[in-house]
Amino acid sequence: MIIAIDGPAASGKGTLAKRLAAHYGFRHLDTGVIYRAVAHALLTTGVDLKDEARAAQVALTLDSATFDNPALKSQTVGSAASVVSALPKVREALVAFQRQFASQPPGAVLDGRDIGTVICPDAAVKIYVVADPRIRAQRRTLEALSRGEPADEAAVLADILARDERDQNRPIAPLKQAPDAILLDNSHLDIESGVRAAIDIVEAVRAGR
Ligand code: DC
Repeated sequence: MIIAIDGPAASGKGTLAKRLAAHYGFRHLDTGVIYRAVAHALLTTGVDLKDEARAAQVALTLDSATFDNPALKSQTVGSAASVVSALPKVREALVAFQRQFASQPPGAVLDGRDIGTVICPDAAVKIYVVADPRIRAQRRTLEALSRGEPADEAAVLADILARDERDQNRPIAPLKQAPDAILLDNSHLDIESGVRAAIDIVEAVRAGR
C-alpha cells in the first residue's frame, strides 16, 4: 500500500508521514530531502541554481548515504530546493528512484508536493495537508530557535509565501491537491491530533467509506 502526502512548506506533512509510516510499519521517504540535497550540492560547489544540465547530473548521481541532514534543513537550502525543483530535467531524474522506493513491500509513505498527482497517481490513500501560513511561520521559527539558529518570524513567513507561490505556479508538477486526495487542515491540530486525523483518513479510505 502507498500513502501519498502532499502539502506546502512547513504544513506538518513530514511529521505526519513519519508517524503514519511508524504506525503501519511502512517505509518513509521525505522527497523534499532529495531536492534539498541537489540544491545543497549546487550551492556548495558554486554552480548556478538554474544550470539545468548540471543540476540534472547531480540529481542522477545522488547518494543518500552522503546526505548532510542538518545542513539540508536550513531555510537557505529549502528556498534553493524550491528553485531547483522547478527544472524539468531535475524532476525527471528523480522520478524512477521515488517510484522504486514506493513500490517496495510492505508499503510506503511518501511526502512531498507531487506524490499524489505525478509520482504515485495510483496511491491507495492521498492526503493533502494544509495550514495557515502564519501558523506555519510560527512553527518553523520555533523549530529553528530550538536548534539554536537565529530566526525572524516575519522573514520566515515571507519565505514560506514565496515558496508556496513558486511551488504552486511552476509549469511542471506544481503543488496542488489531487482530485482524489482528502484535505487535512493542520492549522489548529497538535501533533497527536493531526496523527489521529491522518490515521482516521487512512482507515476510512481502506474501509471504502
Ligand atoms: O518539503 P520541503 O520543504 O523539504 O521541500 C523543499 C523544496 O523541494 C520545496 O519547496 C519544493 C521541492 N519539492 C518538490 O518540488 N517536490 C517534492 N515532491 C518535494 C519537494
